[in-house]
Amino acid sequence: MRALRADITTLQVEAIVNAANASLLGGGGVDGAIHQAAGPELLAACRKLGGCDAGDAKLTQGYRLAANFVIHTVGPVWHGGKLGEPELLASCYQRCLEIADQHAIASLAYPAISTGVYGYPVDLAAKVAVATVRSQAKAFPVVKEVVFCCFSQGDLAVYDQLLAA
Ligand code: AR6
Repeated sequence: MRALRADITTLQVEAIVNAANASLLGGGGVDGAIHQAAGPELLAACRKLGGCDAGDAKLTQGYRLAANFVIHTVGPVWHGGKLGEPELLASCYQRCLEIADQHAIASLAYPAISTGVYGYPVDLAAKVAVATVRSQAKAFPVVKEVVFCCFSQGDLAVYDQLLAA
């Protein structure tokens, strides 16, 4: 596991994770950037998936991205943390690992799911992200490298501190 600051669409990993919405038909933030970089074939592929529940994930190809695959997951909207948000967020990280394992994806990059438009505090979200991946590492030996792709220096500092602990 490592954290870095980057635009996730530029990463040379086998799969990048998209923080999508339940329609899987695109949006703003990292979702918009991924669709922009992958090209219209990505939206065409997403249309066939029939949406996605919060906490679940679905796979497409990466089309014009450097990454071969995109794993689309839907994070929880933050409502204060007592409506199952941590469990749903953990499920996002877990389901992406399961899908990566099923498709022999050895390197995977996550954005900070739910911490933009969906309002999840980044320090709390990063704890869930790191703890979930850390606890599942042995269960998914196919996945050799997990990158936490941060969009800001502040987010990177949060992840670096957790990864060092
Ligand atoms: N590379 C890496 N991280 C990015 C990038 C990028 N190019 N662009 C933004 N981020 P958000 P959410 C960071 O809002 O909170 C969409 O409209 C951003 O700084 O993209 O899960 C969907 O369609 C933040 O740290 O996703 C949904 O409707 C993180 O990505 C909704 O937003 C997540 O922010 C999902 O909201």
